[in-house]
Amino acid sequence: MIPEITLDMVRVTEAAALMASLYLGRGNKEMVDQYAVDAMRGILDLIDMRGTVVIGEGEKDNAPMLYPGEKVGKWGDDDPEVLIAVDPIDGTRLVAGGRPNAISVIAATENGEIAPLPTHYVDKLAVGKELAGHLDIEATPRENLRIAAAILGVKVSELTVAVLDRERNAELIEAIRSVGARIKLIDDGDIAGAISTALPESGIDIYMGVGGSPEGVLAAAALQCLGGEIQVKCWARNDEEIKKVEKAGFDINKTYRTRDLINGSEVIFSATGVTDGSFLKGVRFHQNQAVTDSIVMRSSTRTIRRIIAYHDLEFKTITTKTEGEKKLINGANWF
Ligand code: FBP
Repeated sequence: MIPEITLDMVRVTEAAALMASLYLGRGNKEMVDQYAVDAMRGILDLIDMRGTVVIGEGEKDNAPMLYPGEKVGKWGDDDPEVLIAVDPIDGTRLVAGGRPNAISVIAATENGEIAPLPTHYVDKLAVGKELAGHLDIEATPRENLRIAAAILGVKVSELTVAVLDRERNAELIEAIRSVGARIKLIDDGDIAGAISTALPESGIDIYMGVGGSPEGVLAAAALQCLGGEIQVKCWARNDEEIKKVEKAGFDINKTYRTRDLINGSEVIFSATGVTDGSFLKGVRFHQNQAVTDSIVMRSSTRTIRRIIAYHDLEFKTITTKTEGEKKLINGANWF
């Protein structure tokens, strides 16, 4: 049953990307997020599924939509039951600043689980197919890079490692530099950074460093479909978060692997580019047309589809949760 909803997931991320792109470069990251959430939430209810959000926009009290526990989809008697993880926009600041690398993302699983990681951040190590199963987040960057170079048959200096450009990753960046590997620093958007490792055309071999926890789970969905791997460890900012880890039944010392983060008889992942990135182009508007670039995949068959969609703005409507159907062409009048 679930393969039938795979392509519906593309419509979800396309809608969020299209709406968010109306706010490209307008300096308002809250509006970018709000419009993407509203569109994503609206389209989800058009899908024949019994969906429950596990990872979304924060807790119910703070998020009007897409909060953990929220029911989404049509909930017909015969519809498949799926768990959902979303990041309507990974890189809201990027969209607000008109900068590259922002995507809209959703993952779904049938007969499975999604781990609601309790810390805000996790330490991550992600790789593509060739390196999957060979590196260890517990090892030093030097050891991992040496092994990666040997497996890929290149020199360490020919490896490229993506890292989120944050003070908390400064030591890691120094360690990678000291062994001579190349580094691609990412301003924001580490779901794309992690997935890039499994897409050869991106030129990224390994993703390392501390980034958002939900983003780690969403990357796990894609990497599972791509035959890659992600390992994460909870990275607590304070004692309160350490207590949260224990209370939620997680272990601060444990390495959580791809299938610990999301698993099931079928895992689906879809992403649409909002601004140009390493494997997806952003939304382009030209006259009365918008063009979107998406990637959608599922774990059971490992089919990866790339979908370029041409949306005629005279006809295109997006069903938002709060205001129902909206014509995208009227976007210019919203401001
Ligand atoms: P948002 O778009 O949700 O703000 O996330 C962007 C992002 O860069 C993620 O890709 C990353 O995992 C996280 O923020 C890192 O968090 P922080 O900006 O607090 O370091």
